[in-house]
Amino acid sequence: MSENETENETEISRPSRPSRRDLLRAGTAGGAALAAGGLLLPGTALAAPALPAAPTAPATPATLATPTVPAPRGERVAGSALRPFGRHLAFGADPSQQVVVSWQVPDAVTAPFVRLGVKPGDFGSPIAAEVRTLVSKLSWQHPVEDQPLVKPTTVTQYYLHAQLDQLIPDTTYYYVVGHQGYDPAGQGARLGDVASFRTAPAPGRGAGFTFTAFGDQGIGYNAAATGNLISGLDPAFHLHMGDLSYANAGGSGKTSDAYDARLWDSFFVQNDPVASRTPWMPAIGNHEMEPWYGADGYGGMRARFTTPDNAWSQSTGIYSWRYQNVGLISLDGNDVCFNTPANLDYTKGKQKKWLESRLAALRADSGIDFIVVYLHQCTYSTCHDNGAELGAQQDWAPLFDKYQVDLVLSGHNHVYERTDPIRAGKATRKVASGDTVNPVKDGTTYVVAGGGGGGLYSFPAADTYLGHETANDKSVPMVVSDRGGQSQTVKVTWSRVRYTGYCLVTVDVTPAAGGRPARMEVRSLTEDGTAVDRVTVQRG
Ligand SMILES: [Fe+2]
Ligand SMILES: [Fe+2]
Repeated sequence: MSENETENETEISRPSRPSRRDLLRAGTAGGAALAAGGLLLPGTALAAPALPAAPTAPATPATLATPTVPAPRGERVAGSALRPFGRHLAFGADPSQQVVVSWQVPDAVTAPFVRLGVKPGDFGSPIAAEVRTLVSKLSWQHPVEDQPLVKPTTVTQYYLHAQLDQLIPDTTYYYVVGHQGYDPAGQGARLGDVASFRTAPAPGRGAGFTFTAFGDQGIGYNAAATGNLISGLDPAFHLHMGDLSYANAGGSGKTSDAYDARLWDSFFVQNDPVASRTPWMPAIGNHEMEPWYGADGYGGMRARFTTPDNAWSQSTGIYSWRYQNVGLISLDGNDVCFNTPANLDYTKGKQKKWLESRLAALRADSGIDFIVVYLHQCTYSTCHDNGAELGAQQDWAPLFDKYQVDLVLSGHNHVYERTDPIRAGKATRKVASGDTVNPVKDGTTYVVAGGGGGGLYSFPAADTYLGHETANDKSVPMVVSDRGGQSQTVKVTWSRVRYTGYCLVTVDVTPAAGGRPARMEVRSLTEDGTAVDRVTVQRG
Protein backbone atom coordinates (compact mmCIF):
# COMPACT_ATOMS: atom_id res chain seq x y z
CA MET A 1 0.00 0.00 0.00
CA SER A 2 1.35 3.40 -0.92
CA GLU A 3 1.87 6.25 1.47
CA ASN A 4 -1.11 8.00 -0.09
CA GLU A 5 -3.31 5.01 0.45
CA THR A 6 -2.22 4.84 4.06
CA GLU A 7 -3.13 8.48 4.44
CA ASN A 8 -6.45 7.98 2.73
CA GLU A 9 -9.25 8.59 5.16
CA THR A 10 -11.94 8.39 2.50
CA GLU A 11 -14.91 6.45 3.66
CA ILE A 12 -17.47 5.88 0.96
CA SER A 13 -20.69 4.08 1.65
CA ARG A 14 -22.08 2.67 -1.58
CA PRO A 15 -25.38 0.85 -1.31
CA SER A 16 -26.54 -0.75 -4.52
CA ARG A 17 -28.53 1.27 -7.03
CA PRO A 18 -32.30 1.27 -6.66
CA SER A 19 -33.58 -1.68 -8.61
CA ARG A 20 -36.56 -1.73 -10.91
CA ARG A 21 -38.48 -3.33 -8.09
CA ASP A 22 -37.47 -0.53 -5.74
CA LEU A 23 -38.71 2.08 -8.17
CA LEU A 24 -41.92 0.16 -8.68
CA ARG A 25 -42.41 0.01 -4.95
CA ALA A 26 -41.55 3.65 -4.60
CA GLY A 27 -44.09 4.65 -7.17
CA THR A 28 -46.71 2.28 -5.92
CA ALA A 29 -46.32 3.44 -2.38
CA GLY A 30 -46.84 6.98 -3.58
CA GLY A 31 -49.99 6.03 -5.39
CA ALA A 32 -48.67 6.50 -8.94
CA ALA A 33 -49.99 4.42 -11.76
CA LEU A 34 -47.19 2.60 -13.49
CA ALA A 35 -46.84 1.53 -17.05
CA ALA A 36 -45.77 -1.96 -17.94
CA GLY A 37 -42.07 -2.14 -17.28
CA GLY A 38 -42.26 0.12 -14.28
CA LEU A 39 -42.05 3.49 -16.00
CA LEU A 40 -43.74 6.41 -14.37
CA LEU A 41 -46.55 7.59 -16.61
CA PRO A 42 -46.55 11.26 -17.58
CA GLY A 43 -49.64 12.98 -16.42
CA THR A 44 -50.15 10.47 -13.68
CA ALA A 45 -50.40 12.23 -10.37
CA LEU A 46 -48.16 10.83 -7.72
CA ALA A 47 -49.95 11.06 -4.44
CA ALA A 48 -48.05 13.20 -1.98
CA PRO A 49 -48.08 11.42 1.32
CA ALA A 50 -49.03 13.56 4.25
CA LEU A 51 -46.45 14.19 6.88
CA PRO A 52 -45.21 12.72 9.04
CA ALA A 53 -43.57 11.09 6.05
CA ALA A 54 -42.58 7.51 6.47
CA PRO A 55 -40.05 6.95 3.69
CA THR A 56 -41.29 3.60 2.52
CA ALA A 57 -39.11 3.00 -0.51
CA PRO A 58 -36.43 0.70 0.82
CA ALA A 59 -33.62 0.91 -1.73
CA THR A 60 -31.52 -0.95 0.80
CA PRO A 61 -32.21 -1.95 4.33
CA ALA A 62 -29.20 0.07 5.43
CA THR A 63 -30.80 3.30 4.31
CA LEU A 64 -34.39 2.45 5.15
CA ALA A 65 -35.95 5.46 6.71
CA THR A 66 -37.76 5.34 9.97
CA PRO A 67 -40.92 7.36 10.40
CA THR A 68 -40.53 10.95 11.30
CA VAL A 69 -42.37 11.72 14.47
CA PRO A 70 -44.32 14.94 14.20
CA ALA A 71 -42.93 17.57 16.48
CA PRO A 72 -45.21 19.05 19.05
CA ARG A 73 -45.85 22.69 18.35
CA GLY A 74 -42.77 24.73 19.08
CA GLU A 75 -40.33 21.81 19.17
CA ARG A 76 -37.66 20.97 16.66
CA VAL A 77 -37.38 17.70 14.74
CA ALA A 78 -33.95 16.12 14.54
CA GLY A 79 -32.50 16.76 11.11
CA SER A 80 -34.88 19.61 10.28
CA ALA A 81 -32.13 22.23 10.39
CA LEU A 82 -29.84 20.30 8.04
CA ARG A 83 -30.76 21.85 4.75
CA PRO A 84 -29.50 20.08 1.63
CA PHE A 85 -27.34 22.17 -0.70
CA GLY A 86 -25.18 21.91 -3.79
CA ARG A 87 -27.52 19.87 -5.95
CA HIS A 88 -26.07 18.69 -9.23
CA LEU A 89 -27.48 16.35 -11.83
CA ALA A 90 -25.84 13.97 -14.24
CA PHE A 91 -27.19 11.76 -16.98
CA GLY A 92 -26.60 8.04 -17.06
CA ALA A 93 -25.40 6.27 -20.19
CA ASP A 94 -28.98 6.44 -21.48
CA PRO A 95 -30.22 9.98 -20.74
CA SER A 96 -33.70 9.13 -21.94
CA GLN A 97 -34.12 6.91 -18.86
CA GLN A 98 -31.27 7.55 -16.42
CA VAL A 99 -30.56 10.60 -14.27
CA VAL A 100 -28.46 10.87 -11.11
CA VAL A 101 -29.49 13.43 -8.50
CA SER A 102 -26.58 14.41 -6.23
CA TRP A 103 -26.35 16.88 -3.37
CA GLN A 104 -24.71 17.59 -0.02
CA VAL A 105 -25.83 17.96 3.55
CA PRO A 106 -23.94 19.90 6.20
CA ASP A 107 -23.86 17.03 8.71
CA ALA A 108 -24.71 13.36 8.94
CA VAL A 109 -28.36 12.63 8.24
CA THR A 110 -30.59 9.58 8.41
CA ALA A 111 -32.32 8.05 5.40
CA PRO A 112 -31.58 10.61 2.67
CA PHE A 113 -33.96 10.45 -0.27
CA VAL A 114 -35.23 12.02 -3.44
CA ARG A 115 -38.92 12.30 -4.20
CA LEU A 116 -39.96 12.47 -7.82
CA GLY A 117 -43.08 13.60 -9.62
CA VAL A 118 -44.34 14.61 -13.02
CA LYS A 119 -46.23 17.58 -11.57
CA PRO A 120 -44.69 20.18 -9.28
CA GLY A 121 -45.71 19.52 -5.69
CA ASP A 122 -47.06 16.08 -6.50
CA PHE A 123 -44.29 13.79 -5.35
CA GLY A 124 -44.01 10.05 -4.96
CA SER A 125 -42.53 8.10 -2.10
CA PRO A 126 -38.90 8.56 -1.17
CA ILE A 127 -36.26 6.80 -3.23
CA ALA A 128 -33.22 6.16 -1.07
CA ALA A 129 -29.92 7.83 -1.83
CA GLU A 130 -26.48 6.48 -1.08
CA VAL A 131 -24.14 8.39 1.22
CA ARG A 132 -20.49 8.92 0.32
CA THR A 133 -18.71 10.43 3.29
CA LEU A 134 -15.44 12.13 2.46
CA VAL A 135 -13.07 12.81 5.33
CA SER A 136 -10.08 15.10 4.68
CA LYS A 137 -7.31 15.55 7.19
CA LEU A 138 -6.28 19.01 8.25
CA SER A 139 -2.67 17.94 7.86
CA TRP A 140 -3.15 17.61 4.08
CA GLN A 141 -4.48 21.06 3.58
CA HIS A 142 -2.89 24.43 2.98
CA PRO A 143 -5.86 26.78 2.85
CA VAL A 144 -5.75 30.42 1.92
CA GLU A 145 -4.41 32.55 4.75
CA ASP A 146 -7.59 34.47 5.57
CA GLN A 147 -9.57 31.26 5.99
CA PRO A 148 -7.41 29.22 8.36
CA LEU A 149 -8.50 25.80 9.39
CA VAL A 150 -9.03 25.33 13.07
CA LYS A 151 -9.90 22.30 15.12
CA PRO A 152 -11.39 19.76 14.60
CA THR A 153 -8.55 18.47 12.53
CA THR A 154 -10.66 17.03 9.76
CA VAL A 155 -13.15 18.29 7.20
CA THR A 156 -16.04 15.88 6.69
CA GLN A 157 -18.29 16.21 3.66
CA TYR A 158 -21.44 14.23 2.99
CA TYR A 159 -22.27 13.63 -0.67
CA LEU A 160 -25.55 11.98 -1.54
CA HIS A 161 -26.46 10.30 -4.82
CA ALA A 162 -29.76 8.89 -6.02
CA GLN A 163 -29.47 7.00 -9.30
CA LEU A 164 -32.78 6.98 -11.12
CA ASP A 165 -33.40 4.39 -13.83
CA GLN A 166 -36.33 3.58 -16.08
CA LEU A 167 -37.56 7.13 -16.30
CA ILE A 168 -39.88 8.11 -19.11
CA PRO A 169 -38.14 9.62 -22.15
CA ASP A 170 -38.78 13.24 -23.07
CA THR A 171 -40.46 14.01 -19.76
CA THR A 172 -40.05 16.78 -17.21
CA TYR A 173 -39.67 15.47 -13.68
CA TYR A 174 -39.92 17.57 -10.55
CA TYR A 175 -37.96 16.53 -7.50
CA VAL A 176 -37.04 17.39 -3.96
CA VAL A 177 -34.29 15.97 -1.80
CA GLY A 178 -34.48 15.40 1.92
CA HIS A 179 -33.84 13.09 4.83
CA GLN A 180 -35.41 12.08 8.08
CA GLY A 181 -36.71 15.25 9.69
CA TYR A 182 -36.47 17.32 6.51
CA ASP A 183 -39.09 16.61 3.88
CA PRO A 184 -39.86 19.44 1.45
CA ALA A 185 -42.77 17.46 0.00
CA GLY A 186 -44.89 17.68 3.07
CA GLN A 187 -46.08 20.26 5.54
CA GLY A 188 -43.95 23.34 5.55
CA ALA A 189 -42.81 22.61 2.02
CA ARG A 190 -40.15 25.02 0.87
CA LEU A 191 -40.95 25.94 -2.69
CA GLY A 192 -37.34 26.83 -3.36
CA ASP A 193 -36.44 23.22 -2.76
CA VAL A 194 -38.35 22.02 -5.81
CA ALA A 195 -36.23 21.57 -8.91
CA SER A 196 -36.80 19.81 -12.19
CA PHE A 197 -35.01 18.02 -14.99
CA ARG A 198 -36.00 16.70 -18.37
CA THR A 199 -35.09 13.31 -19.76
CA ALA A 200 -33.88 13.01 -23.34
CA PRO A 201 -36.23 11.92 -26.09
CA ALA A 202 -35.95 8.25 -27.00
CA PRO A 203 -33.18 7.71 -29.53
CA GLY A 204 -34.27 8.77 -33.00
CA ARG A 205 -37.28 10.70 -31.79
CA GLY A 206 -35.88 14.15 -31.03
CA ALA A 207 -36.08 17.31 -33.08
CA GLY A 208 -32.71 18.68 -32.08
CA PHE A 209 -31.19 20.03 -28.90
CA THR A 210 -28.57 22.37 -27.45
CA PHE A 211 -25.67 21.62 -25.17
CA THR A 212 -23.07 23.91 -23.62
CA ALA A 213 -19.47 23.46 -22.53
CA PHE A 214 -16.62 25.15 -20.73
CA GLY A 215 -13.71 24.29 -18.47
CA ASP A 216 -11.70 25.99 -15.75
CA GLN A 217 -14.56 27.57 -13.88
CA GLY A 218 -13.53 28.02 -10.26
CA ILE A 219 -15.50 30.12 -7.81
CA GLY A 220 -16.26 33.82 -8.12
CA TYR A 221 -18.09 36.45 -10.10
CA ASN A 222 -16.95 35.40 -13.55
CA ALA A 223 -17.56 31.75 -12.72
CA ALA A 224 -21.11 32.59 -11.69
CA ALA A 225 -21.58 34.73 -14.81
CA THR A 226 -20.69 31.90 -17.18
CA GLY A 227 -23.00 29.70 -15.14
CA ASN A 228 -25.75 32.26 -15.65
CA LEU A 229 -25.13 32.03 -19.37
CA ILE A 230 -25.94 28.34 -19.17
CA SER A 231 -29.22 29.14 -17.42
CA GLY A 232 -30.15 31.60 -20.15
CA LEU A 233 -29.57 29.01 -22.85
CA ASP A 234 -31.31 26.23 -20.88
CA PRO A 235 -29.41 23.45 -22.66
CA ALA A 236 -30.15 19.75 -22.50
CA PHE A 237 -26.83 19.29 -20.66
CA HIS A 238 -23.55 20.99 -19.90
CA LEU A 239 -20.06 19.57 -20.36
CA HIS A 240 -17.46 20.71 -17.84
CA MET A 241 -13.99 20.08 -19.19
CA GLY A 242 -12.21 19.92 -15.86
CA ASP A 243 -10.48 22.22 -13.37
CA LEU A 244 -13.78 22.61 -11.61
CA SER A 245 -13.37 24.20 -8.17
CA TYR A 246 -9.61 24.77 -7.82
CA ALA A 247 -9.88 23.47 -4.25
CA ASN A 248 -6.51 22.04 -5.17
CA ALA A 249 -4.90 25.33 -6.12
CA GLY A 250 -1.59 23.79 -7.11
CA GLY A 251 -2.81 21.40 -9.77
CA SER A 252 0.39 19.39 -9.90
CA GLY A 253 -1.08 16.26 -8.38
CA LYS A 254 1.51 16.33 -5.60
CA THR A 255 0.87 16.46 -1.86
CA SER A 256 2.73 19.78 -1.79
CA ASP A 257 -0.19 21.42 -3.64
CA ALA A 258 -2.17 24.02 -1.70
CA TYR A 259 -5.55 22.46 -1.00
CA ASP A 260 -8.73 23.35 0.88
CA ALA A 261 -11.48 20.73 0.69
CA ARG A 262 -14.09 23.26 1.84
CA LEU A 263 -13.89 25.12 -1.47
CA TRP A 264 -15.82 22.26 -3.04
CA ASP A 265 -18.79 23.31 -0.88
CA SER A 266 -18.60 26.83 -2.32
CA PHE A 267 -18.33 25.43 -5.83
CA PHE A 268 -21.47 23.35 -5.49
CA VAL A 269 -23.41 26.15 -3.80
CA GLN A 270 -22.44 28.53 -6.59
CA ASN A 271 -23.63 26.15 -9.29
CA ASP A 272 -26.76 24.79 -7.61
CA PRO A 273 -29.17 27.11 -9.48
CA VAL A 274 -27.90 25.76 -12.79
CA ALA A 275 -26.75 22.23 -12.01
CA SER A 276 -29.94 21.34 -10.11
CA ARG A 277 -31.81 21.68 -13.41
CA THR A 278 -29.24 20.93 -16.11
CA PRO A 279 -27.11 17.79 -15.95
CA TRP A 280 -23.41 18.65 -15.74
CA MET A 281 -21.07 16.05 -17.16
CA PRO A 282 -17.55 16.55 -15.80
CA ALA A 283 -14.19 15.65 -17.24
CA ILE A 284 -11.17 15.50 -14.96
CA GLY A 285 -8.55 18.24 -14.98
CA ASN A 286 -5.11 18.46 -13.47
CA HIS A 287 -6.64 20.32 -10.51
CA GLU A 288 -8.81 17.26 -9.82
CA MET A 289 -5.73 15.18 -9.06
CA GLU A 290 -5.99 15.24 -5.26
CA PRO A 291 -3.27 12.83 -4.17
CA TRP A 292 -4.60 12.55 -0.64
CA TYR A 293 -7.53 10.44 -1.82
CA GLY A 294 -6.10 7.17 -3.05
CA ALA A 295 -3.36 6.17 -5.45
CA ASP A 296 -4.88 7.93 -8.49
CA GLY A 297 -6.02 10.95 -6.45
CA TYR A 298 -9.60 10.62 -7.66
CA GLY A 299 -11.26 9.36 -4.47
CA GLY A 300 -12.67 12.82 -3.84
CA MET A 301 -14.14 13.03 -7.33
CA ARG A 302 -15.70 9.59 -6.97
CA ALA A 303 -17.40 10.80 -3.79
CA ARG A 304 -18.70 14.01 -5.38
CA PHE A 305 -19.84 12.84 -8.81
CA THR A 306 -21.57 9.88 -10.40
CA THR A 307 -20.81 9.49 -14.08
CA PRO A 308 -22.09 6.85 -16.53
CA ASP A 309 -20.75 3.46 -15.56
CA ASN A 310 -20.48 1.90 -18.96
CA ALA A 311 -16.76 2.55 -19.22
CA TRP A 312 -13.62 0.87 -18.22
CA SER A 313 -13.77 2.94 -15.14
CA GLN A 314 -11.05 3.11 -12.58
CA SER A 315 -11.56 6.84 -13.03
CA THR A 316 -14.78 8.76 -12.73
CA GLY A 317 -13.62 10.91 -15.67
CA ILE A 318 -13.44 8.19 -18.33
CA TYR A 319 -16.89 7.36 -19.66
CA SER A 320 -19.07 7.57 -22.73
CA TRP A 321 -22.74 8.07 -23.36
CA ARG A 322 -25.04 9.28 -26.08
CA TYR A 323 -27.66 11.95 -26.39
CA GLN A 324 -29.86 11.48 -29.42
CA ASN A 325 -27.63 11.42 -32.52
CA VAL A 326 -24.46 12.49 -30.70
CA GLY A 327 -21.99 10.08 -29.11
CA LEU A 328 -20.00 11.63 -26.27
CA ILE A 329 -16.70 10.47 -24.79
CA SER A 330 -15.02 11.94 -21.70
CA LEU A 331 -11.28 11.30 -21.47
CA ASP A 332 -8.80 11.76 -18.65
CA GLY A 333 -5.98 13.83 -20.14
CA ASN A 334 -3.86 13.39 -17.02
CA ASP A 335 -3.09 9.92 -18.37
CA VAL A 336 -1.16 11.37 -21.34
CA CYS A 337 0.03 14.66 -19.86
CA PHE A 338 3.78 15.25 -20.08
CA ASN A 339 3.47 18.73 -18.55
CA THR A 340 1.91 17.57 -15.28
CA PRO A 341 2.95 13.94 -15.11
CA ALA A 342 1.62 12.90 -11.68
CA ASN A 343 -0.83 10.46 -13.33
CA LEU A 344 1.05 9.96 -16.60
CA ASP A 345 0.40 6.42 -17.92
CA TYR A 346 -1.64 5.50 -14.84
CA THR A 347 -4.09 3.48 -16.95
CA LYS A 348 -1.19 1.58 -18.53
CA GLY A 349 -2.71 1.93 -21.98
CA LYS A 350 -6.19 0.78 -21.00
CA GLN A 351 -7.77 4.16 -21.62
CA LYS A 352 -6.42 4.21 -25.19
CA LYS A 353 -7.77 0.72 -25.89
CA TRP A 354 -11.11 1.64 -24.39
CA LEU A 355 -11.19 4.85 -26.45
CA GLU A 356 -10.66 2.96 -29.68
CA SER A 357 -13.37 0.44 -28.83
CA ARG A 358 -15.83 3.21 -28.00
CA LEU A 359 -15.00 5.19 -31.14
CA ALA A 360 -15.44 2.08 -33.27
CA ALA A 361 -18.78 1.25 -31.65
CA LEU A 362 -20.13 4.77 -31.98
CA ARG A 363 -19.00 5.14 -35.59
CA ALA A 364 -20.63 1.81 -36.44
CA ASP A 365 -23.93 2.92 -34.92
CA SER A 366 -26.27 4.15 -37.65
CA GLY A 367 -28.13 6.26 -35.09
CA ILE A 368 -25.04 8.33 -34.32
CA ASP A 369 -24.19 11.26 -36.58
CA PHE A 370 -21.59 13.07 -34.51
CA ILE A 371 -18.87 12.05 -32.09
CA VAL A 372 -17.85 14.70 -29.56
CA VAL A 373 -14.84 14.06 -27.33
CA TYR A 374 -14.28 16.23 -24.28
CA LEU A 375 -11.29 16.34 -21.98
CA HIS A 376 -9.27 18.83 -20.01
CA GLN A 377 -5.90 19.10 -21.70
CA CYS A 378 -5.50 20.67 -25.14
CA THR A 379 -4.54 18.38 -27.97
CA TYR A 380 -3.87 21.49 -30.05
CA SER A 381 -3.51 25.05 -28.77
CA THR A 382 -1.22 28.00 -29.29
CA CYS A 383 -1.71 29.43 -25.80
CA HIS A 384 1.65 29.05 -24.11
CA ASP A 385 0.52 29.08 -20.48
CA ASN A 386 -0.18 25.36 -20.52
CA GLY A 387 0.74 24.70 -24.13
CA ALA A 388 -0.51 21.74 -26.14
CA GLU A 389 -0.21 18.10 -25.09
CA LEU A 390 2.18 16.08 -27.17
CA GLY A 391 0.91 12.92 -25.48
CA ALA A 392 -2.62 13.58 -26.75
CA GLN A 393 -1.27 14.36 -30.22
CA GLN A 394 0.66 11.11 -30.29
CA ASP A 395 -1.81 8.75 -28.60
CA TRP A 396 -5.28 10.02 -29.36
CA ALA A 397 -5.24 12.33 -32.40
CA PRO A 398 -4.60 9.38 -34.79
CA LEU A 399 -7.72 7.72 -33.38
CA PHE A 400 -9.70 10.94 -33.77
CA ASP A 401 -8.57 10.94 -37.43
CA LYS A 402 -9.36 7.26 -37.97
CA TYR A 403 -12.89 7.47 -36.59
CA GLN A 404 -13.63 10.96 -37.91
CA VAL A 405 -14.29 12.55 -34.56
CA ASP A 406 -16.25 15.69 -35.34
CA LEU A 407 -15.39 17.93 -32.41
CA VAL A 408 -12.86 17.81 -29.57
CA LEU A 409 -13.56 20.16 -26.65
CA SER A 410 -11.01 20.97 -23.98
CA GLY A 411 -10.07 23.53 -21.36
CA HIS A 412 -6.75 23.87 -19.45
CA ASN A 413 -5.70 27.02 -21.32
CA HIS A 414 -7.94 29.77 -19.97
CA VAL A 415 -8.86 31.21 -23.35
CA TYR A 416 -11.02 30.41 -26.35
CA GLU A 417 -9.35 28.98 -29.43
CA ARG A 418 -10.68 27.09 -32.45
CA THR A 419 -8.56 25.31 -34.99
CA ASP A 420 -9.13 24.82 -38.65
CA PRO A 421 -10.03 21.17 -39.26
CA ILE A 422 -6.94 19.04 -38.64
CA ARG A 423 -5.92 15.67 -39.96
CA ALA A 424 -2.55 14.01 -39.33
CA GLY A 425 -1.49 17.06 -37.38
CA LYS A 426 -1.99 19.50 -40.25
CA ALA A 427 -4.75 21.92 -41.17
CA THR A 428 -6.66 20.72 -44.21
CA ARG A 429 -8.19 24.08 -45.09
CA LYS A 430 -9.07 27.45 -43.59
CA VAL A 431 -12.47 27.68 -41.93
CA ALA A 432 -13.31 31.23 -40.89
CA SER A 433 -16.11 32.14 -38.49
CA GLY A 434 -19.39 31.58 -40.25
CA ASP A 435 -18.06 28.79 -42.48
CA THR A 436 -18.97 25.09 -42.56
CA VAL A 437 -16.72 22.09 -41.83
CA ASN A 438 -17.32 18.65 -43.30
CA PRO A 439 -15.47 16.34 -40.88
CA VAL A 440 -15.56 13.45 -43.33
CA LYS A 441 -13.51 15.37 -45.88
CA ASP A 442 -11.83 17.99 -43.72
CA GLY A 443 -10.95 16.38 -40.40
CA THR A 444 -11.52 17.19 -36.75
CA THR A 445 -12.18 20.63 -35.26
CA TYR A 446 -10.49 21.28 -31.90
CA VAL A 447 -11.91 23.88 -29.52
CA VAL A 448 -10.30 25.18 -26.34
CA ALA A 449 -12.98 26.66 -24.07
CA GLY A 450 -11.11 27.32 -20.84
CA GLY A 451 -12.76 30.68 -20.14
CA GLY A 452 -15.22 29.30 -17.59
CA GLY A 453 -14.27 31.84 -14.94
CA GLY A 454 -11.04 30.74 -13.27
CA GLY A 455 -8.75 33.58 -14.41
CA LEU A 456 -7.51 34.24 -17.92
CA TYR A 457 -4.36 33.43 -19.86
CA SER A 458 -3.10 35.02 -23.08
CA PHE A 459 -1.88 34.21 -26.57
CA PRO A 460 1.50 35.05 -28.07
CA ALA A 461 -0.36 36.19 -31.21
CA ALA A 462 -3.13 38.78 -31.45
CA ASP A 463 -6.70 37.81 -30.75
CA THR A 464 -8.80 37.27 -33.86
CA TYR A 465 -12.50 36.51 -33.60
CA LEU A 466 -15.90 37.16 -35.12
CA GLY A 467 -16.23 40.83 -35.96
CA HIS A 468 -12.63 41.50 -34.89
CA GLU A 469 -10.65 39.49 -37.40
CA THR A 470 -6.99 40.37 -37.63
CA ALA A 471 -4.48 39.34 -40.26
CA ASN A 472 -4.00 35.65 -39.49
CA ASP A 473 -2.23 34.15 -42.47
CA LYS A 474 1.14 33.64 -40.84
CA SER A 475 2.07 30.68 -38.73
CA VAL A 476 2.02 31.07 -34.97
CA PRO A 477 4.03 29.22 -32.32
CA MET A 478 2.70 26.20 -30.43
CA VAL A 479 4.62 24.97 -27.38
CA VAL A 480 4.69 21.28 -26.46
CA SER A 481 6.66 19.38 -23.87
CA ASP A 482 8.14 15.98 -24.55
CA ARG A 483 8.08 13.05 -22.17
CA GLY A 484 11.24 14.30 -20.52
CA GLY A 485 9.70 17.71 -19.84
CA GLN A 486 11.75 19.51 -22.48
CA SER A 487 9.63 22.08 -24.30
CA GLN A 488 9.71 22.65 -28.03
CA THR A 489 8.17 25.39 -30.14
CA VAL A 490 6.51 24.40 -33.39
CA LYS A 491 5.07 26.78 -36.00
CA VAL A 492 1.46 25.99 -36.91
CA THR A 493 -1.13 27.43 -39.27
CA TRP A 494 -4.40 26.08 -37.86
CA SER A 495 -5.08 28.63 -35.07
CA ARG A 496 -8.10 30.21 -36.76
CA VAL A 497 -9.94 31.95 -33.89
CA ARG A 498 -8.42 33.30 -30.68
CA TYR A 499 -10.33 35.16 -27.99
CA THR A 500 -9.03 36.15 -24.57
CA GLY A 501 -12.04 36.44 -22.30
CA TYR A 502 -14.59 34.52 -20.27
CA CYS A 503 -16.96 32.56 -22.45
CA LEU A 504 -18.71 29.29 -23.04
CA VAL A 505 -19.39 27.12 -26.06
CA THR A 506 -22.93 26.37 -27.11
CA VAL A 507 -23.74 23.72 -29.67
CA ASP A 508 -27.09 23.51 -31.46
CA VAL A 509 -27.60 20.02 -32.85
CA THR A 510 -30.09 19.53 -35.68
CA PRO A 511 -30.86 16.04 -36.99
CA ALA A 512 -31.06 15.27 -40.67
CA ALA A 513 -34.36 16.32 -42.21
CA GLY A 514 -35.82 17.24 -45.59
CA GLY A 515 -32.77 16.05 -47.47
CA ARG A 516 -30.43 18.18 -45.37
CA PRO A 517 -27.76 16.35 -43.40
CA ALA A 518 -27.39 16.53 -39.65
CA ARG A 519 -25.42 19.50 -38.41
CA MET A 520 -23.98 21.09 -35.30
CA GLU A 521 -23.74 24.84 -35.05
CA VAL A 522 -20.90 25.62 -32.65
CA ARG A 523 -20.75 29.11 -31.14
CA SER A 524 -18.64 30.76 -28.49
CA LEU A 525 -20.46 33.34 -26.36
CA THR A 526 -18.90 35.89 -24.02
CA GLU A 527 -20.31 36.66 -20.58
CA ASP A 528 -22.76 39.14 -22.11
CA GLY A 529 -23.87 36.66 -24.76
CA THR A 530 -21.91 38.16 -27.67
CA ALA A 531 -20.81 35.55 -30.22
CA VAL A 532 -17.06 35.56 -30.84
CA ASP A 533 -17.06 32.51 -33.09
CA ARG A 534 -19.51 30.46 -35.07
CA VAL A 535 -18.86 27.40 -37.19
CA THR A 536 -21.16 24.73 -38.59
CA VAL A 537 -20.08 21.09 -38.49
CA GLN A 538 -22.00 19.15 -41.11
CA ARG A 539 -21.40 15.63 -42.32
CA GLY A 540 -22.16 15.54 -46.04
FE1 LIG B 1 -7.40 25.61 -15.35
FE1 LIG C 1 -5.73 22.72 -16.10
